[in-house]
Amino acid sequence: MPYVDLHCHILPGLDDGARTLEAAVRYARLLDQEDVLDVATTSHIKRSNFPHIDISELAGRRAELQDAIHAEGLNVTLHPGGELAHEDALELADRELQLIAQGPSHAQWLLLECPFAGLHDDFDAAVERLTRLGYGLLLAHPERVRGPIDRLTPHTEAGALLQVNVSSLLGAHGPAPQEVATKLVMSGRAYCLASDTHPGTREEILPYGYDALRRLGVSEVQAFRLTQSNPRFLLREGNPRLALPETEERANSTR
Ligand SMILES: [Fe+2]
Repeated sequence: MPYVDLHCHILPGLDDGARTLEAAVRYARLLDQEDVLDVATTSHIKRSNFPHIDISELAGRRAELQDAIHAEGLNVTLHPGGELAHEDALELADRELQLIAQGPSHAQWLLLECPFAGLHDDFDAAVERLTRLGYGLLLAHPERVRGPIDRLTPHTEAGALLQVNVSSLLGAHGPAPQEVATKLVMSGRAYCLASDTHPGTREEILPYGYDALRRLGVSEVQAFRLTQSNPRFLLREGNPRLALPETEERANSTR
């Protein structure tokens, strides 16, 4: 079964990911060679750092890159997405969140970035708002948070899932994130690995994560789950326990 990467900054010219269409296609060639055939396009949705990203343009950008990938004969399929910062999660209209949601329409979920600076009340408030709107949550790279991550426990107990970066597991961000990443995968708390690749600067693809897991002594079955079957389940089935409720905010936003 091919790998599924749910976190990748492959859309060119938007954030700190791929700079050009050529760079994105070159990276897609590597993905094709390494059997990473489904990739979510998760540009940063963080207006404080990337104020020029227009969420309504993402689908068109994705289609443009997909055409270029197909034109090269590569078998990589791009999927919608966005790496949502908690500040923006508190402000965006639900119709904008819909444009970066992943999974099938009846069980959508969002990739919410765990802030490097630490987990505080505003992060909890973002989780609560997105959950209230009916989205499942995949929390990106908790191991890169500076400081304790105990505040995630109520969220994971309520159904949020944890995504660990391959780069963290490989030690690319230093010993502390590597240690936390290792604990999260060894304890079974991590739901999946993702590359969080920034083509041209950081390219730790999922097969490297699979190999790292095996070196840690993780079973073949569990390494397969973390890099292939679990992310594929989220992509195809979403979070079926979180059907979208008809909230006042949702009703207003879709009028
Ligand atoms: Fe990212």
